[in-house]
Amino acid sequence: MEVENVLVTGANRGIGLEFVRQLIKLPKPPRYVFATYRDENTTEALEKIIDTTKRTQIQLVKMDVRKRNEIETARKVIEDIVGDEGLNLLINNAGAFRWLGFSEITEEDLVFHFSTNTVGPIMVLKEMLPLLQKSAARKASSLSVCRAAVVNISALLGSITELNGQQVMISHNIKAMSYRISKAALNMAMRAIACTVKDQGILVVNITPGWVKTDMGSERAQLEVADSVSTMLRTFPLLNESHHGAFLDRNGKWSKMSTQASTQ
Ligand SMILES: NC(=O)c1ccc[n+]([C@@H]2O[C@H](COP(=O)([O-])OP(=O)(O)OC[C@H]3O[C@@H](n4cnc5c(N)ncnc54)[C@H](OP(=O)(O)O)[C@@H]3O)[C@@H](O)[C@H]2O)c1
Repeated sequence: MEVENVLVTGANRGIGLEFVRQLIKLPKPPRYVFATYRDENTTEALEKIIDTTKRTQIQLVKMDVRKRNEIETARKVIEDIVGDEGLNLLINNAGAFRWLGFSEITEEDLVFHFSTNTVGPIMVLKEMLPLLQKSAARKASSLSVCRAAVVNISALLGSITELNGQQVMISHNIKAMSYRISKAALNMAMRAIACTVKDQGILVVNITPGWVKTDMGSERAQLEVADSVSTMLRTFPLLNESHHGAFLDRNGKWSKMSTQASTQ
């Protein structure tokens, strides 16, 4: 995979951090990786990675996806550096998760998840769109991650199909209610946006990383973070027009949700 400029949101820990770690080890690593964080006190792991590479410049960028002004400032910082090259790849990874079921759910919990997991990625994409457009305009190829793409890290918990009729009948207390709703909305949002930007040469996909051992996924999860991310990075160069707007598993297979709606 050849990508020059990449933005990874929520890169100070978990899956985002691992994306940065593995991106710089690609045979042809990006020139710039913009790695976002919210709090200066949480960037230690990222700073250690910076010291391990000379081929890629890792730029730390402060951005809370719930804060319009920080998204805008991040765009300006990136734009100043990449100029007319634009951005090849936006990995909308930042996300939040609480385990509340319907009986515990509150308006605050719903809004919290919606603003972080749905509105945030949409607004980041909207702000970065001119940079993705610049990258797309530089290559005449078909839709690809190398040309210009946004990859949204979604979740199987957002799949309506996955929560099938049988499960509805046997499960009395479905947890992570707001998270599920926010990821289902993300899937729909990005599918609709995919239709809108297709002619601009920008590929849009939603991908589920699997159940991964991070702070969010917990120690009980099935996958090591390195395995999840390496699988996704092997999938990225295979993505093309046939995946545009799709919800995929980490191997690039259409997930059960796709035409319907899928934390794994
Ligand atoms: N782990 C899994 O099993 C699993 C399964 C399915 C999908 N996913 C998805 O994968 C993505 C990454 O998850 P993870 O497992 O790596 O989670 P994690 O370890 O909890 O890390 C979450 C990352 O998102 C950032 N973040 C949270 N709220 C943010 C906000 N408002 N603005 C900017 N950044 C914010 C966090 O930054 P702070 O350190 O500042 O909080 C952190 O960098 C999420 O979208 C998640 O839904 C994970």
